[in-house]
Amino acid sequence: MGTFSITVMAGDGIGPEVTAQARIVLETIGRQYGHTFNFHQALIGLAALEAEGVAISDATLALCQQSDAILFGAVGGASHNTPPEKRPEQGLLRLRKELQLFANLRPVRPFQALLDASTIKAEVLQGTDMLVVRELTGGIYFGKPSEIRQTAQGREAIDTLIYTEAEIERILRTSFELARGRRKRVASVDKANVLSSSRLWREIATRVAADYPDIEFEHLLVDACSMHLIRRPASFDVIVTENMFGDILTDEAAMLSGSMGMLPSASLGTRQTAYGTFGLYEPIHGSAPDIVGQEKANPIAAILSAALLLRYSLGLNREADAVEQAVEQTIEAGYRTADIHESGKTLLTTKAMGQHIAEAIAPVPQR
Ligand code: IPM
Ligand code: MG
Repeated sequence: MGTFSITVMAGDGIGPEVTAQARIVLETIGRQYGHTFNFHQALIGLAALEAEGVAISDATLALCQQSDAILFGAVGGASHNTPPEKRPEQGLLRLRKELQLFANLRPVRPFQALLDASTIKAEVLQGTDMLVVRELTGGIYFGKPSEIRQTAQGREAIDTLIYTEAEIERILRTSFELARGRRKRVASVDKANVLSSSRLWREIATRVAADYPDIEFEHLLVDACSMHLIRRPASFDVIVTENMFGDILTDEAAMLSGSMGMLPSASLGTRQTAYGTFGLYEPIHGSAPDIVGQEKANPIAAILSAALLLRYSLGLNREADAVEQAVEQTIEAGYRTADIHESGKTLLTTKAMGQHIAEAIAPVPQR
């Protein structure tokens, strides 16, 4: 029985709706397993820009540093035309960078009962259970220069894709270690036929792989990987890749589980807490401005992210399993939000889905 401090950043769009349900699930776990979760709310994204003039304030970053984990909703609005320093996404990027949350884990394991909800054939999906490890604090997301500038010939724009050897090596080692606890296969994804950064990546991946003779290893080009993801998803175990390739491939991989609303993520840092590794937990779907306030959002990705929080940052494996089982049971019982609804199933609002999952969390067996 422990006392834990969790910073909650619900953020923009449907972030607050889905995060509220994840929090209810955590509170239920707290009651049933005798833990105390102290939640601290903080602003990020559009709400922070409005109230504090920045997408994330220094005070919020300090609060995060003091907590055991961050439960995160989403950032971003409909407009993509604002200058970088006024963009809500900058809050999330600064958080990832300053807290050194370099390892983004995105597990993809479609639920049996949802195989038909995917646009991919059930027989292709059968057996899919992969973990995409996305490098999160380097690459083209953070390289400088990154700007639109004036030249004599008109405007031009530049982004910089840069990786150090140390950054590449640590994400690869993390991935091989994770593979040891799974089916012992790693696919490293790059674009080594074109990019220098990928050639360095591939060289280091080959070297790291040699330290893990027990792990089956392959290099894949990112374009080929995007094809194999929908052709033979079940053949993958751990996929490791750089920041932007990981962003793109995980939206694609999310669709294997039927909807973007199903996929959780953990962003792990370098700091160890008393119970595990400090991290940020967020659904991979974004703020979905088109469905805000309509009770249509699927809270499952946020709830499964809370399960990852319990497991990785708080060391509460049994509790994490209980949340994941409750989600599975709720799906098995035929409850669906709009994004995964099929005829013959029960359509629920965001809140009702959260409530059903919380109710499915079984009480701890008495000894
Ligand atoms: C994600 C999102 C973010 C990213 C955005 C909101 C900045 O798409 O977490 O996948 O590109 O990393
Ligand atoms: Mg993304």
